Amino acid sequence: MSRVAYVDGRYLRHDKASIHIEDRGYQFADGVYEVLAVVGGALVDVADHLKRLDRSLAALAIAWPVSERVLPLLMREVVRRNGVTEGMLYLQISRGVARREHAFPARAAPTLVMTARAVPPARRAALVATGVKVVSLPDIRWSRCDIKSVALLPNVLAKQKAKEAGAYEAWMLEPNGTVTEGASSNAWIVDAQGSVITRPLGNDILGGVTRLRVVDLAREAQIKVIERPFTIAEAKAAREAFVTSTTAFVAPVVEIDGVAIGDGRPGAVARKLAALYERHAGVPLGA
Ligand code: PDD
Repeated sequence: MSRVAYVDGRYLRHDKASIHIEDRGYQFADGVYEVLAVVGGALVDVADHLKRLDRSLAALAIAWPVSERVLPLLMREVVRRNGVTEGMLYLQISRGVARREHAFPARAAPTLVMTARAVPPARRAALVATGVKVVSLPDIRWSRCDIKSVALLPNVLAKQKAKEAGAYEAWMLEPNGTVTEGASSNAWIVDAQGSVITRPLGNDILGGVTRLRVVDLAREAQIKVIERPFTIAEAKAAREAFVTSTTAFVAPVVEIDGVAIGDGRPGAVARKLAALYERHAGVPLGA
């Protein structure tokens, strides 16, 4: 099945789809995005993603390109037209096309682009089975990381450093050594009592939808959740560590900066939360 992209009301061949060169998303990174998982042909946690999208749009004073009621219908149509049963939906809204001037244009219609692609579920399962490596580096981002903006250059650079070091993720650090989050995931550790610790929501991290669900799932499973900052030194000495994101769900961390976490294998708490999240997302048992 050939891929199809949604661009401002039209379904176009993916390899032919394009936007105007003066789109503000392209020129200023003046836009926001969402990534949703598709499991069994259905979008996971749509309501939470729409809520966050609304928050991001409001923070940047970008109007909804279509109504909040219609958008999920279009999202499902993009998934359907691409024949995706297991994979991802990407959605981006920019402020629109206008002559290049920094301040908001008087009149610009927001640009809405959506794509979907299949991702083999085995890729995620492999992350849980083997665990992932993390490297740490300074957080050089701005002070509104809670907005899911397409301005991802620091994240891109961090992820590249991780890749060059043979790691899956980069954990970004404040000058005092506390971990903010991963380049594309939220960061967690497990203490000696088996409680899970993750940084509280604020302007310095993205409020992950997976993070939100995992907080609930952990509490339902009688696992204590402590929302407080933790340092990279604490993480290296932790019993377990893991990351959460739409792409990885819950992935155990087995190594940070070359230091083995726990016994160097995926931890029991992370594996349990991964299984609970998979069930929540609708992944069939044993898949
Ligand atoms: N990244 N923190 C950052 C900086 C992120 O970019 C992401 C998601 C998360 C986790 O959020 P969620 O659980 O809602 O996916 C945390 C997406 C997947 C991406 O950019 O591809």
